[in-house]
Amino acid sequence: MAMIAGSIRTYFGFFERKGVRTILDYGAGTLRNARFLSEKGFSVYAADVPEQVRRIMRMSASNGLAGILETGALQRGALGVDMVLSTYVLNIIPDGAEKWSYLKNISINLRDEGYLLIETRCRREDAACGTGCSFHAKCPSCVKTYSHDELDRLVTPFGFRRLSHYYRRHAVAVLYQKVDD
Ligand SMILES: C[S@@+](CC[C@H](N)C(=O)[O-])C[C@H]1O[C@@H](n2cnc3c(N)ncnc32)[C@H](O)[C@@H]1O
Repeated sequence: MAMIAGSIRTYFGFFERKGVRTILDYGAGTLRNARFLSEKGFSVYAADVPEQVRRIMRMSASNGLAGILETGALQRGALGVDMVLSTYVLNIIPDGAEKWSYLKNISINLRDEGYLLIETRCRREDAACGTGCSFHAKCPSCVKTYSHDELDRLVTPFGFRRLSHYYRRHAVAVLYQKVDD
């Protein structure tokens, strides 16, 4: 079985203490995280783009899931889950309308005071181009990577505050909570 994302190991005890029961794994891919969490007793919804959902439906691990959703189905905002998980998805969504929809769908499908856990590839602060690199999307060292500050700027306009974050190897993980308007 593929290894789960490191942030899930790190924050697993936190989810349990906070009474998290329902999780949306948004950009679930090959279900490495969704499968682990459903085996641990959480109700897990896996969402992805339509072509990946068709693959997920053929995976045996999909049997234990609470639901499998194409991204378009999230626009109704009907899930009200306790937590949304986003691991290595923001790295591959380009800036613009798709990223905006992704973040909006997270917010509208999460209950008030629910949690959002994001893990992405991190920006290498020791590389020649740090957070101030003016080439950004064109620079091979910067493209598709984030610092926790950049994630804050992306996510907080959708009604979140950062609770915790850490850097490990090539990853940054940030835990947010949805705040009242
Ligand atoms: C690098 S994989 C990560 C999969 C999984 N989260 C993991 O950590 O193993 C990125 C996933 O994001 C999905 N994805 C890409 N664009 C998306 C979007 N706009 N909304 C939801 N999922 C998307 C891809 O289909 C793919 O399954």
